[in-house]
Amino acid sequence: MEFNKLIQVRRSVRSYASAPSHEELVQILHNAQQAPSWKNSQTTRWYIAETPEKREELRLALHAANQKKAINAALIVSTYEKNIAGFTGGNPDNEVGNGWGAYDLGLHDAYLLLAAKDAGFDTLIMGLREGDKVRDLFSIPDSEEILSVIAIGKGAEEPAMRPRKPLEEIAFFA
Ligand SMILES: Cc1cc2nc3c(=O)[nH]c(=O)nc-3n(C[C@H](O)[C@H](O)[C@H](O)COP(=O)(O)O)c2cc1C
Repeated sequence: MEFNKLIQVRRSVRSYASAPSHEELVQILHNAQQAPSWKNSQTTRWYIAETPEKREELRLALHAANQKKAINAALIVSTYEKNIAGFTGGNPDNEVGNGWGAYDLGLHDAYLLLAAKDAGFDTLIMGLREGDKVRDLFSIPDSEEILSVIAIGKGAEEPAMRPRKPLEEIAFFA
């Protein structure tokens, strides 16, 4: 899809008809992996629930308000390895510390959303999830911080575009 169009038509979708195949997920993640990262440290990690059983377990680890939104979707847990991006020899390079790992993860996930849309799939980032339950389900080590769970699949709704602030409120030219 043409890039400007892709940016315009991506929406957070909260109702799904079906999930991508394994091959489709792999291709989307390959594309998402091309995102930049601090010193190319690539500390993003993804844990993918694609079997019906695992999807259901992970869906139930979402906050109650999110559980119904994730029915029929594949689910991707996104984490990052702490104390690497923005660190040298175990010491933070500046005041941002592990904020850089979260920054890189956000970039990877933004690429993921756009790669998914380009492949014909919709997505929903969910920050409201039970971190401890998610960690147990995939045996995610304590060295990783868990951020979001992302639903991905064929959308069963077409939400309206949500408004954005005027550019002057968020961008300052000098
Ligand atoms: C970090 C983050 C966490 C979010 N968590 C949730 C969530 O838990 N549940 C939900 O329904 N939407 C969640 N969203 C989706 C936002 O509400 C949505 O991106 C925003 O309203 C803009 O809509 P759009 O994505 O359709 O442009 C989250 C988005 C982000 C980036």
